[in-house]
Amino acid sequence: MVRPRNFSAGPAQMPEDVLLSAQAEFMDFAGTGMSVLETSHRSAAYRRVIDAAEASLREVMGIPDSYGVLFLQGGATLEFAGIPMNLMRRGRAGHIVSGHFAKVAAEEAARYGSAEILATSEPTGFDRIPDLPAPEAFAGMDYGYICQNNTIYGTMFHGLPDCGGTPLVADVSSCFLSFPLDVTDYGLLFAGAQKNAGPSGVCVLVVDRSLVEAGPALGVCPTYLDYSAQLAKGSMLNTPNTFGIYLCGKVFDWVRGTGGLEAMGERNAEKAALLYGAVDRSDLYRGCAVPSSRSVANVTFRLPTPELEREFVDRAAGQGLVGLAGHRLVGGIRASIYNAVGIDAVRDLVAFMESFELSVTGRSF
Ligand SMILES: Cc1ncc(COP(=O)(O)O)c(C=O)c1O
Repeated sequence: MVRPRNFSAGPAQMPEDVLLSAQAEFMDFAGTGMSVLETSHRSAAYRRVIDAAEASLREVMGIPDSYGVLFLQGGATLEFAGIPMNLMRRGRAGHIVSGHFAKVAAEEAARYGSAEILATSEPTGFDRIPDLPAPEAFAGMDYGYICQNNTIYGTMFHGLPDCGGTPLVADVSSCFLSFPLDVTDYGLLFAGAQKNAGPSGVCVLVVDRSLVEAGPALGVCPTYLDYSAQLAKGSMLNTPNTFGIYLCGKVFDWVRGTGGLEAMGERNAEKAALLYGAVDRSDLYRGCAVPSSRSVANVTFRLPTPELEREFVDRAAGQGLVGLAGHRLVGGIRASIYNAVGIDAVRDLVAFMESFELSVTGRSF
Protein backbone atom coordinates (compact mmCIF):
# COMPACT_ATOMS: atom_id res chain seq x y z
CA MET A 1 0.00 0.00 0.00
CA VAL A 2 1.32 3.44 -0.90
CA ARG A 3 0.90 5.73 2.06
CA PRO A 4 -0.19 9.31 1.34
CA ARG A 5 2.25 12.16 1.81
CA ASN A 6 0.70 13.49 5.01
CA PHE A 7 1.21 17.20 5.77
CA SER A 8 -1.36 17.35 8.57
CA ALA A 9 -0.65 19.69 11.49
CA GLY A 10 -1.65 17.07 14.03
CA PRO A 11 -2.48 14.36 14.63
CA ALA A 12 0.30 14.10 12.12
CA GLN A 13 2.29 11.51 10.26
CA MET A 14 4.02 8.97 12.50
CA PRO A 15 7.32 7.30 11.59
CA GLU A 16 6.41 4.19 9.63
CA ASP A 17 8.90 2.11 11.63
CA VAL A 18 7.03 3.02 14.81
CA LEU A 19 3.69 1.96 13.37
CA LEU A 20 5.11 -1.30 12.08
CA SER A 21 6.82 -2.08 15.35
CA ALA A 22 3.60 -1.46 17.29
CA GLN A 23 1.69 -3.56 14.78
CA ALA A 24 4.14 -6.45 15.11
CA GLU A 25 3.67 -6.69 18.88
CA PHE A 26 0.06 -5.54 19.03
CA MET A 27 -1.34 -8.95 19.98
CA ASP A 28 1.59 -10.16 22.06
CA PHE A 29 3.40 -7.48 23.95
CA ALA A 30 6.72 -8.32 25.64
CA GLY A 31 5.93 -12.02 25.54
CA THR A 32 2.88 -11.59 27.76
CA GLY A 33 0.46 -13.03 25.22
CA MET A 34 -1.61 -9.86 25.67
CA SER A 35 -1.84 -6.58 23.86
CA VAL A 36 -0.25 -3.59 25.59
CA LEU A 37 -3.81 -2.21 25.54
CA GLU A 38 -4.79 -4.99 27.93
CA THR A 39 -1.82 -4.63 30.24
CA SER A 40 -2.19 -3.11 33.70
CA HIS A 41 -0.31 0.13 34.21
CA ARG A 42 0.77 -1.35 37.56
CA SER A 43 2.40 -4.40 35.94
CA ALA A 44 6.17 -4.80 35.78
CA ALA A 45 5.94 -5.06 31.98
CA TYR A 46 4.26 -1.66 31.72
CA ARG A 47 6.56 -0.10 34.31
CA ARG A 48 9.39 -0.96 31.95
CA VAL A 49 7.55 0.80 29.10
CA ILE A 50 7.06 4.11 30.87
CA ASP A 51 10.53 4.05 32.45
CA ALA A 52 12.12 3.32 29.07
CA ALA A 53 10.09 6.09 27.39
CA GLU A 54 11.29 8.59 29.99
CA ALA A 55 14.89 7.39 29.76
CA SER A 56 14.82 7.60 25.97
CA LEU A 57 13.44 11.15 26.06
CA ARG A 58 16.01 12.17 28.65
CA GLU A 59 18.77 10.88 26.42
CA VAL A 60 17.39 12.48 23.23
CA MET A 61 16.91 15.90 24.84
CA GLY A 62 19.74 15.78 27.35
CA ILE A 63 17.35 16.33 30.25
CA PRO A 64 19.24 16.58 33.55
CA ASP A 65 18.06 14.83 36.73
CA SER A 66 17.13 18.19 38.18
CA TYR A 67 14.21 18.24 35.71
CA GLY A 68 11.17 16.01 36.04
CA VAL A 69 9.37 14.44 33.08
CA LEU A 70 5.61 13.93 33.10
CA PHE A 71 3.26 12.21 30.66
CA LEU A 72 -0.11 13.84 31.25
CA GLN A 73 -3.56 13.76 29.68
CA GLY A 74 -5.76 16.64 28.55
CA GLY A 75 -3.47 17.70 25.72
CA ALA A 76 -1.45 20.88 25.74
CA THR A 77 -4.65 22.80 26.44
CA LEU A 78 -5.09 21.50 29.98
CA GLU A 79 -1.62 22.76 30.84
CA PHE A 80 -2.71 26.29 29.90
CA ALA A 81 -4.50 25.98 33.26
CA GLY A 82 -2.07 23.60 34.95
CA ILE A 83 0.88 25.95 34.57
CA PRO A 84 -0.64 28.97 36.33
CA MET A 85 -2.23 26.74 38.96
CA ASN A 86 1.21 25.34 39.80
CA LEU A 87 3.50 28.28 39.27
CA MET A 88 1.59 31.55 39.70
CA ARG A 89 2.34 31.83 43.38
CA ARG A 90 2.91 35.57 43.29
CA GLY A 91 -0.03 35.94 40.93
CA ARG A 92 1.84 37.37 37.94
CA ALA A 93 3.01 35.94 34.64
CA GLY A 94 4.43 37.75 31.59
CA HIS A 95 3.03 36.48 28.31
CA ILE A 96 4.28 36.98 24.77
CA VAL A 97 1.31 36.53 22.47
CA SER A 98 2.46 35.33 19.06
CA GLY A 99 -0.55 33.36 17.90
CA HIS A 100 -3.84 31.68 18.73
CA PHE A 101 -2.57 29.14 21.25
CA ALA A 102 -0.41 31.77 22.98
CA LYS A 103 -3.48 33.98 23.28
CA VAL A 104 -5.67 31.18 24.59
CA ALA A 105 -2.97 30.28 27.12
CA ALA A 106 -2.85 33.90 28.35
CA GLU A 107 -6.64 34.02 28.64
CA GLU A 108 -6.65 30.79 30.62
CA ALA A 109 -3.83 31.99 32.90
CA ALA A 110 -5.82 35.18 33.58
CA ARG A 111 -8.37 33.04 35.42
CA TYR A 112 -5.76 32.36 38.11
CA GLY A 113 -3.83 35.60 38.36
CA SER A 114 -2.53 38.50 36.36
CA ALA A 115 -1.41 37.38 32.89
CA GLU A 116 0.33 40.48 31.60
CA ILE A 117 0.80 40.77 27.84
CA LEU A 118 4.37 41.99 27.41
CA ALA A 119 4.39 41.77 23.61
CA THR A 120 1.96 40.73 20.89
CA SER A 121 1.92 40.41 17.13
CA GLU A 122 -1.87 40.35 16.94
CA PRO A 123 -2.04 43.79 15.23
CA THR A 124 -0.17 42.36 12.22
CA GLY A 125 -2.27 39.20 12.13
CA PHE A 126 0.34 37.09 13.95
CA ASP A 127 2.56 37.13 10.87
CA ARG A 128 5.70 37.35 13.02
CA ILE A 129 7.23 36.90 16.44
CA PRO A 130 6.86 40.28 18.15
CA ASP A 131 9.88 42.26 19.32
CA LEU A 132 10.97 40.66 22.56
CA PRO A 133 10.52 42.58 25.82
CA ALA A 134 13.57 43.67 27.81
CA PRO A 135 14.58 41.32 30.65
CA GLU A 136 13.41 43.91 33.21
CA ALA A 137 9.83 43.49 31.96
CA PHE A 138 9.77 40.07 33.66
CA ALA A 139 10.86 41.41 37.06
CA GLY A 140 8.57 40.25 39.87
CA MET A 141 6.82 37.72 37.65
CA ASP A 142 6.44 34.04 38.45
CA TYR A 143 7.37 33.14 34.89
CA GLY A 144 7.53 34.36 31.31
CA TYR A 145 5.44 32.46 28.77
CA ILE A 146 5.90 31.81 25.06
CA CYS A 147 4.48 29.52 22.41
CA GLN A 148 7.75 28.71 20.65
CA ASN A 149 6.26 27.58 17.35
CA ASN A 150 2.92 28.92 16.19
CA THR A 151 1.31 26.01 14.39
CA ILE A 152 -1.48 27.98 12.76
CA TYR A 153 0.49 30.96 11.47
CA GLY A 154 3.76 29.21 10.67
CA THR A 155 6.00 31.36 12.82
CA MET A 156 8.69 30.39 15.29
CA PHE A 157 10.97 32.00 17.84
CA HIS A 158 14.53 31.88 16.49
CA GLY A 159 15.91 32.99 19.84
CA LEU A 160 14.43 32.81 23.31
CA PRO A 161 13.52 35.90 25.30
CA ASP A 162 15.93 36.85 28.05
CA CYS A 163 13.65 36.78 31.07
CA GLY A 164 16.34 38.19 33.37
CA GLY A 165 16.37 35.18 35.69
CA THR A 166 12.61 34.69 35.70
CA PRO A 167 11.80 31.12 34.57
CA LEU A 168 10.70 30.69 30.97
CA VAL A 169 7.70 28.49 30.24
CA ALA A 170 7.29 27.35 26.64
CA ASP A 171 4.61 25.56 24.69
CA VAL A 172 6.76 23.59 22.26
CA SER A 173 3.93 21.40 20.94
CA SER A 174 4.74 21.86 17.26
CA CYS A 175 8.54 22.11 17.50
CA PHE A 176 9.13 19.37 20.09
CA LEU A 177 12.15 17.24 19.10
CA SER A 178 12.53 19.31 15.90
CA PHE A 179 16.02 20.60 16.69
CA PRO A 180 18.50 20.60 19.58
CA LEU A 181 17.68 22.79 22.54
CA ASP A 182 19.09 23.33 26.00
CA VAL A 183 16.46 22.24 28.49
CA THR A 184 18.08 24.36 31.19
CA ASP A 185 17.09 27.50 29.27
CA TYR A 186 13.54 26.70 30.31
CA GLY A 187 11.80 26.45 33.65
CA LEU A 188 9.13 24.30 32.02
CA LEU A 189 8.37 23.12 28.52
CA PHE A 190 5.43 21.09 27.34
CA ALA A 191 4.08 19.58 24.16
CA GLY A 192 0.91 17.93 22.99
CA ALA A 193 2.32 14.71 21.53
CA GLN A 194 0.30 14.52 18.34
CA LYS A 195 2.78 16.36 16.12
CA ASN A 196 6.27 15.07 16.78
CA ALA A 197 6.08 12.77 19.78
CA GLY A 198 3.27 10.27 19.27
CA PRO A 199 -0.51 10.10 19.28
CA SER A 200 -2.95 12.66 20.67
CA GLY A 201 -3.95 12.19 24.27
CA VAL A 202 -0.50 12.58 25.78
CA CYS A 203 1.11 15.84 26.85
CA VAL A 204 4.82 15.61 27.61
CA LEU A 205 5.91 18.10 30.26
CA VAL A 206 9.49 18.75 31.39
CA VAL A 207 9.87 20.89 34.49
CA ASP A 208 12.68 22.17 36.66
CA ARG A 209 12.02 20.35 39.94
CA SER A 210 13.11 23.37 41.97
CA LEU A 211 10.19 25.35 40.53
CA VAL A 212 7.75 22.70 41.70
CA GLU A 213 9.45 22.39 45.07
CA ALA A 214 9.44 26.18 45.62
CA GLY A 215 5.92 26.00 47.05
CA PRO A 216 2.53 24.34 46.80
CA ALA A 217 0.19 24.62 43.83
CA LEU A 218 -2.72 27.05 44.16
CA GLY A 219 -5.56 25.77 46.33
CA VAL A 220 -7.87 25.48 43.33
CA CYS A 221 -5.51 23.11 41.54
CA PRO A 222 -7.03 19.64 41.06
CA THR A 223 -4.83 16.86 42.40
CA TYR A 224 -4.44 15.49 38.88
CA LEU A 225 -2.82 18.73 37.71
CA ASP A 226 -0.58 19.17 40.73
CA TYR A 227 2.92 18.64 39.30
CA SER A 228 4.31 17.79 42.71
CA ALA A 229 1.77 14.98 43.12
CA GLN A 230 2.29 13.76 39.55
CA LEU A 231 6.09 13.74 39.94
CA ALA A 232 5.80 11.81 43.19
CA LYS A 233 3.71 9.17 41.39
CA GLY A 234 5.76 9.02 38.18
CA SER A 235 2.82 10.19 35.98
CA MET A 236 0.74 7.34 37.48
CA LEU A 237 -1.46 9.23 39.89
CA ASN A 238 -4.33 7.63 38.02
CA THR A 239 -4.46 5.36 34.98
CA PRO A 240 -2.26 7.05 32.41
CA ASN A 241 -2.67 6.90 28.64
CA THR A 242 -0.80 3.61 28.53
CA PHE A 243 -0.93 3.03 24.79
CA GLY A 244 -0.09 6.66 23.99
CA ILE A 245 2.97 6.65 26.24
CA TYR A 246 4.07 3.31 24.75
CA LEU A 247 3.94 4.86 21.26
CA CYS A 248 5.74 8.02 22.43
CA GLY A 249 8.55 5.80 23.74
CA LYS A 250 8.86 4.21 20.30
CA VAL A 251 9.00 7.65 18.67
CA PHE A 252 11.73 8.77 21.10
CA ASP A 253 13.70 5.61 20.24
CA TRP A 254 13.18 6.35 16.54
CA VAL A 255 14.54 9.89 16.97
CA ARG A 256 17.59 8.48 18.77
CA GLY A 257 18.08 5.82 16.14
CA THR A 258 17.93 8.26 13.26
CA GLY A 259 20.62 10.58 14.56
CA GLY A 260 19.02 12.44 17.43
CA LEU A 261 18.10 16.11 17.55
CA GLU A 262 21.15 17.31 15.59
CA ALA A 263 20.14 15.19 12.62
CA MET A 264 16.46 16.10 13.02
CA GLY A 265 17.40 19.77 13.05
CA GLU A 266 19.46 19.45 9.87
CA ARG A 267 16.78 17.47 8.04
CA ASN A 268 14.04 19.88 9.11
CA ALA A 269 16.07 22.91 8.01
CA GLU A 270 16.67 21.29 4.63
CA LYS A 271 12.97 20.47 4.15
CA ALA A 272 11.92 23.98 5.18
CA ALA A 273 14.48 25.60 2.86
CA LEU A 274 13.15 23.55 -0.08
CA LEU A 275 9.59 24.61 0.55
CA TYR A 276 10.25 28.28 1.33
CA GLY A 277 12.54 28.39 -1.71
CA ALA A 278 9.60 27.30 -3.86
CA VAL A 279 7.28 29.88 -2.29
CA ASP A 280 9.84 32.65 -2.78
CA ARG A 281 10.54 31.76 -6.44
CA SER A 282 6.87 31.55 -7.34
CA ASP A 283 4.58 34.29 -8.65
CA LEU A 284 1.48 32.46 -7.46
CA TYR A 285 2.23 31.54 -3.84
CA ARG A 286 2.70 34.16 -1.15
CA GLY A 287 4.28 33.22 2.18
CA CYS A 288 2.24 34.23 5.26
CA ALA A 289 5.03 34.61 7.80
CA VAL A 290 7.60 37.40 7.80
CA PRO A 291 10.79 35.59 6.62
CA SER A 292 12.76 36.20 9.82
CA SER A 293 9.98 34.51 11.84
CA ARG A 294 9.42 31.50 9.59
CA SER A 295 8.73 28.14 11.21
CA VAL A 296 10.70 25.02 10.32
CA ALA A 297 7.67 22.89 11.12
CA ASN A 298 4.59 24.60 9.62
CA VAL A 299 4.98 26.33 6.27
CA THR A 300 2.05 28.63 5.49
CA PHE A 301 1.27 30.34 2.22
CA ARG A 302 -1.65 31.71 0.23
CA LEU A 303 -2.88 31.72 -3.32
CA PRO A 304 -4.68 34.71 -4.84
CA THR A 305 -8.22 33.48 -4.05
CA PRO A 306 -9.92 31.03 -1.66
CA GLU A 307 -11.27 29.20 -4.74
CA LEU A 308 -7.76 28.58 -6.04
CA GLU A 309 -6.68 27.47 -2.57
CA ARG A 310 -9.52 24.92 -2.49
CA GLU A 311 -8.53 23.70 -5.94
CA PHE A 312 -4.90 23.42 -4.82
CA VAL A 313 -5.87 21.32 -1.79
CA ASP A 314 -8.22 19.09 -3.81
CA ARG A 315 -5.83 18.47 -6.67
CA ALA A 316 -2.96 17.82 -4.26
CA ALA A 317 -5.10 15.25 -2.42
CA GLY A 318 -5.80 13.60 -5.77
CA GLN A 319 -2.07 13.08 -6.08
CA GLY A 320 -1.70 11.65 -2.59
CA LEU A 321 -0.56 14.90 -0.91
CA VAL A 322 -2.97 15.30 2.00
CA GLY A 323 -3.56 17.58 5.00
CA LEU A 324 -2.63 20.83 3.22
CA ALA A 325 -5.61 23.02 4.07
CA GLY A 326 -4.73 25.87 6.41
CA HIS A 327 -6.26 26.06 9.88
CA ARG A 328 -9.95 26.99 9.82
CA LEU A 329 -9.20 30.29 11.62
CA VAL A 330 -7.00 31.59 8.80
CA GLY A 331 -7.53 29.49 5.66
CA GLY A 332 -4.78 29.37 3.05
CA ILE A 333 -2.36 26.48 2.74
CA ARG A 334 -0.27 24.92 5.49
CA ALA A 335 2.28 22.19 4.98
CA SER A 336 3.36 20.69 8.28
CA ILE A 337 6.72 19.04 7.78
CA TYR A 338 7.33 17.40 11.14
CA ASN A 339 10.08 14.87 11.79
CA ALA A 340 8.29 11.89 10.24
CA VAL A 341 7.67 13.73 6.95
CA GLY A 342 10.60 12.80 4.72
CA ILE A 343 12.42 15.02 2.28
CA ASP A 344 10.94 13.00 -0.61
CA ALA A 345 7.46 14.08 0.46
CA VAL A 346 8.59 17.70 0.44
CA ARG A 347 10.15 17.26 -3.01
CA ASP A 348 6.86 15.80 -4.26
CA LEU A 349 4.98 18.78 -2.83
CA VAL A 350 7.33 21.24 -4.52
CA ALA A 351 6.91 19.40 -7.84
CA PHE A 352 3.15 19.59 -7.40
CA MET A 353 3.34 23.32 -6.63
CA GLU A 354 5.31 23.86 -9.83
CA SER A 355 2.87 21.92 -11.97
CA PHE A 356 -0.13 23.61 -10.33
CA GLU A 357 1.35 27.04 -10.99
CA LEU A 358 2.05 26.11 -14.60
CA SER A 359 -1.53 24.94 -15.07
CA VAL A 360 -2.96 28.14 -13.57
CA THR A 361 -0.64 30.83 -14.92
CA GLY A 362 1.13 29.18 -17.84
CA ARG A 363 4.42 29.88 -16.06
CA SER A 364 6.53 27.72 -13.81
CA PHE A 365 9.22 28.69 -11.34
C1 LIG B 1 1.28 25.18 19.69
C2 LIG B 1 0.06 24.47 20.17
N1 LIG B 1 -0.29 24.56 21.46
C3 LIG B 1 -1.38 23.94 21.93
C4 LIG B 1 -2.19 23.19 21.11
C5 LIG B 1 -3.39 22.50 21.68
O1 LIG B 1 -3.05 21.18 21.83
P1 LIG B 1 -4.06 20.06 22.33
O2 LIG B 1 -5.06 19.89 21.24
O3 LIG B 1 -3.18 18.88 22.55
O4 LIG B 1 -4.69 20.54 23.59
C6 LIG B 1 -1.86 23.04 19.77
C7 LIG B 1 -2.71 22.23 18.89
O5 LIG B 1 -2.52 22.11 17.72
C8 LIG B 1 -0.71 23.72 19.29
O6 LIG B 1 -0.37 23.62 17.99
